[in-house]
Amino acid sequence: MASNENNGDNRIKKTLDFENKIILAPMVRIGSFPMRYMSLKYGADYVCTSEIVDKRLITSTRIVNKKLGTIDYMNKERIEFRTTDYEKGRVILQLGTCDPDLALKAAKHVEQDVAAIDVNCGCPKRFSVIGGMGAALLAHPDKIIAILTNLVNNLSVPVTCKIRLLNTYEETIDLVKRIEATGVAAITVHCRRKKELEKDPGHWDVFKLIRDAVKIPVIANGDIFNYNDMEKIKKISNVNSFMMARAAQNNPSIFRKEGVLPKLDVVKEYSRLCAKYDMPYQNAKYALLCIWKDHQDKVGYSLVKSKSVLDICKSVDEEEYYHKVLKERNEKDEELDEEARAKQEEIYADQCPYIPRAPYIPKNLKHGIEDEFEDKEKENDVNNSNNTEEKENSIINNNQTTSSSTMNTEDNKNKKIKLV
Ligand SMILES: Cc1cc2nc3c(=O)[nH]c(=O)nc-3n(C[C@H](O)[C@H](O)[C@H](O)COP(=O)(O)O)c2cc1C
Repeated sequence: MASNENNGDNRIKKTLDFENKIILAPMVRIGSFPMRYMSLKYGADYVCTSEIVDKRLITSTRIVNKKLGTIDYMNKERIEFRTTDYEKGRVILQLGTCDPDLALKAAKHVEQDVAAIDVNCGCPKRFSVIGGMGAALLAHPDKIIAILTNLVNNLSVPVTCKIRLLNTYEETIDLVKRIEATGVAAITVHCRRKKELEKDPGHWDVFKLIRDAVKIPVIANGDIFNYNDMEKIKKISNVNSFMMARAAQNNPSIFRKEGVLPKLDVVKEYSRLCAKYDMPYQNAKYALLCIWKDHQDKVGYSLVKSKSVLDICKSVDEEEYYHKVLKERNEKDEELDEEARAKQEEIYADQCPYIPRAPYIPKNLKHGIEDEFEDKEKENDVNNSNNTEEKENSIINNNQTTSSSTMNTEDNKNKKIKLV
C-alpha cells in the first residue's frame, strides 16, 4: 500500500546528476529506441521513453533478446520497451499512471533496466488524461504525492516528475514544493498550462520562480529549440538542466553541438537502426515522416507508402543495409538454435539417456526404467498383428504404453525403487 507523504528522509539518496544536462523529452510514438539512440549519440545526456502505461508494463514479459542484443518488455508481439546497453544508466522511463500501487508494481518490474522513473503529470493528450493520468493528475495533487512517495520509498532508482503549470504561479510553486518533499531527484517543468497549445508561447519567466523556490534540480522544458535557447533560459533563471521534445522530433541531431546534420543523413541512419533493431514499421514510419515532413518529394512519397521496414529502407536507399542485417540476424538465429540444441542434448544425455524428452528421471533409477521399457517393447511386438482391428487396438495400446512409460514415471519409480 502507498505510504503517506515522505518526510524527506530518502531524498537524494539515489539520484542521477541533473546539473547542466540536456535531455530528450518523453514523446509518445517518437521516443522509441532509434530516436533515443540517435539523441544520445549526438549529445543528449539522458533520454526519456514515451509514456508507458503502468498496466502495460506490469503485464509485459522481460526477455533477453540474444538475437538483437536487446532487452525487451513484451506483451505478446507488442514491444512496450526495448533497450540496450548503449543507453544503460541514461534512459529514463516515463510512467503513465494514476495509482500509487500500480505505479510501483510497474516501476519495480523495469527498475533493473532504467536509470530513473519519471511520472507523467503533464501530458494533456487524450490517451493520457482519459485514464486520469498525465495532466489529469494536476487536478489531484494528493494523488501525485501518493504516487511519488510510494515510488521514492520503494525503488532502487531515482524518481522524477514532469508537470505543466497550474492556473497561477503561486499554485504551481505550492505543488512543486510538495513534490520536492516526496524526495524526487528532479522536477521537469513544461512551461505551459494544461489548456495551452504548442503554438501558444511558453512562459519562460516561471523557471526562475521555481528555481528559487526549491532545492532539487529543475529541468526546463518548453519552446527550447537549440543551444542558444538554453543559454538564454540559463541566464534568466539559472535552472539546472534542459529538455527538448519537438526540436528532436524534427531532427534528433539537434543535440549535436557542432550543428544539425542534413535530414537525409538522419532519416537514413534512423532507417538503418529500425532494420538493425527490428522495430515495428508503423512506428518507424511515423517518426521518419515527422523528420521528413517539410519535403514533398520522392523519398517522402515512398515513406508514406511503406508497409514494412524493408520498404522504408528502400525509400531512403538503404536496402542493401537491410539485407545485410537480416542475413546477420538469420545467422545469429542459427547459431543460437545450435547452442540451444547442444545444451539440450547435453541435458538429456546426462539426465535421461533412454527416453529422450521424457520427464526428468533420477540417475539411480535409470536401469530400472530401462528394464521396464524393454518389457513394453516386447508387449508391442506381440500386438503387431495383420488383423486390422487388432492393429488399431495395437495402436491404442502402443499409445497407452508410450504414455504410461513416460507419464506414469511415479508408478515406475515406485516399482523400481525396490530393485535399485
Ligand atoms: C509527439 C509528442 C508526444 C508527446 N508525448 C508526451 C508524453 O508521452 N509524455 C509527456 O510528458 N509529454 C509528452 N509530450 C510533451 C513533450 O514532452 C514536451 O513537454 C512538449 O512538447 C514541450 O516541449 P518542446 O517545446 O520542446 O516541444 C509530447 C510532445 C510531442 C510533440
